[in-house]
Amino acid sequence: MDFQKALVIDLGGKYTQLLARQIREARVYSEILPCAVSLEEIKQREPQALIINGGPGIIDDDVLDFLDPGIFKMNVPLMVIGYGLKCLWGGTEFLQLKSDQDEKHIENVEKALQIVKEPPGYQVLSRGTDGSPYTLFSPEQNIFATLVYPEKEDNIEILHHFLFNIAKLEATWTPASFVHQTIDKIKASFPEGARAVCGLSGGIDSAVSALLVYQAIGERLICIFVDHGLMREGEPEQVVRTFREKYKLNVISVDARSEFLNKLKKIVDPEEKRRIIGEHFIKVFEREASRFEGVDYLVQGTIYPDIVESLSPAGETIKTHHNVGGLPERMRLKLIEPVRELFKDEVRQVAEYMDLPTEMVWRPPFPGPGLGVRVLGEITPEKVNIVRRANAIIEEEIKNEGLTHELWQFFAVLPQISSVGVSGDQRTYAYPIILRAVTSRDSITAEWYPFPYKVLDRLSRRIIEEIEEVNRVVYDITSKPPATIEWE
Ligand code: XMP
Repeated sequence: MDFQKALVIDLGGKYTQLLARQIREARVYSEILPCAVSLEEIKQREPQALIINGGPGIIDDDVLDFLDPGIFKMNVPLMVIGYGLKCLWGGTEFLQLKSDQDEKHIENVEKALQIVKEPPGYQVLSRGTDGSPYTLFSPEQNIFATLVYPEKEDNIEILHHFLFNIAKLEATWTPASFVHQTIDKIKASFPEGARAVCGLSGGIDSAVSALLVYQAIGERLICIFVDHGLMREGEPEQVVRTFREKYKLNVISVDARSEFLNKLKKIVDPEEKRRIIGEHFIKVFEREASRFEGVDYLVQGTIYPDIVESLSPAGETIKTHHNVGGLPERMRLKLIEPVRELFKDEVRQVAEYMDLPTEMVWRPPFPGPGLGVRVLGEITPEKVNIVRRANAIIEEEIKNEGLTHELWQFFAVLPQISSVGVSGDQRTYAYPIILRAVTSRDSITAEWYPFPYKVLDRLSRRIIEEIEEVNRVVYDITSKPPATIEWE
């Protein structure tokens, strides 16, 4: 990226992603790097500002050993936050741990660390209630040090002061600038005569990725849409129509519904279901892609949290994320991931800028295995159909209530049980539908949503009236953690 950028070096703070996002919300491009990053790598990125972030959370001094002290001599405006101050003044007369603190398990650094003496050359900009310095600035070294968490809404002006007054950055990171720069970059680096394939899933991440690449290389992009039969209502038609008709993309649509359902017969274990869907998806995609000559690139809708979550502060991989696991190596394809630097809300902003249909932009994120993980236990066409119809009612009602933007995900789950009910004067023995609706910023944590009773009531009535096979609706009131968002 050729934007001005503020690099956040992560010492393991819980809120590092939030900090990076707040910087981007201030329209400055920001990236997170693990603290083990080499000085060389930092320099290569040519940052205009650096932030060393140690947030609250379990503190491990070993982490500090990874940080290259050369960072303090880079002559780039530097902000040091919270526990990061230990890198700056640890073991000196300036910084002390307040008494009675078990240093390994400090939850709130603001309350645990104390700047007891002003280091020479620093001006005190703010003080805590006990009178000790909270925010200091050294004009000579261009270092801004603070015990206050600037990613919190209440402290956001501290962050802005650093970005705009000290580092003198410009607020130029916008969806429009991102789109134009990304297209130019792909155009400049994509070899003449090469081709790319992209798996469209209906999701916004792959949709935006495909559009960006299409605008750069045109007809040389081949999009493959695999309908595994586990999509939401109307989704396959919408994807194909939007991309073929509105954007004129070359879309191959593959009806693999019965193949997938056959493979999933009698499978009840969630992990087994996921594995089968994932592996078969790759097989079908590979089969279709291999019909085209000269394909060297795979376009993937990887987004920033996928990358950041894969790294620990020390830089080793914890989880590997792949939207289309294993494909690039197997097909010997090079990856293009145009939105790999974006958070989900930024992908949506870009999608709106590129004029994708609103329903597509705001449809809640949908897992790769689709309704397959929302029909608990064995998947049958009948059950998929029930959960799909219930889901459509939920989406429609939530849209009518104007709640779409407020919620992260909302959907139906079909459990493997039946219960007794009554309809007219008839006993029924039918499925319940579980309603799941959560708010979240990034799906790492999520809160169940306190719907008004009238909304719950309408949802329940409609689902039971319109779906004969259902006689009960229950609402999942569990947050994440301890539950996950999906049931399988
Ligand atoms: P959980 O259930 O782990 O889900 O709280 C967190 C988020 O990830 C989505 N999810 C998936 N997305 N492939 C995906 O692309 C998957 O296999 C998958 N499983 C869960 C889930 O919908 C939620 O937004």
